Amino acid sequence: MSDAVTFKSEDLLEKGNGLRFAVPVLGPHATGFVVRFEGKPYAYVNRCAHVPVELDWEHGKFFNMTQEWIICATHGAMYAPQTGRCVMGPCQGKSLSPIPVTEEAGVIKVHLDQF
Ligand code: FES
Repeated sequence: MSDAVTFKSEDLLEKGNGLRFAVPVLGPHATGFVVRFEGKPYAYVNRCAHVPVELDWEHGKFFNMTQEWIICATHGAMYAPQTGRCVMGPCQGKSLSPIPVTEEAGVIKVHLDQF
């Protein structure tokens, strides 16, 4: 079982690049990511609900051009940042797997221990 992963709040910019981290419980190469949207951090397993590939070809680039949706670089599925639900594309109706995340006193904590 893994513990929490922490980041500095200032390193996670609104609708900016996401921060990646390892998710060892899902395998040696599995990753997750956290993005900030409308002020809040949201973390998910970095695995498309269509085909199990990472969403970001270019590491950290999770938002689409308009910065409203999390997008899969492979076939363009769009996910709502707040819920991880696929709203457009080949996996419509499915969702990313959320990972509990909290933010307090300038620290973002991804709770892999509660995942
Ligand atoms: S692999 Fe993500 S949309 Fe197809």
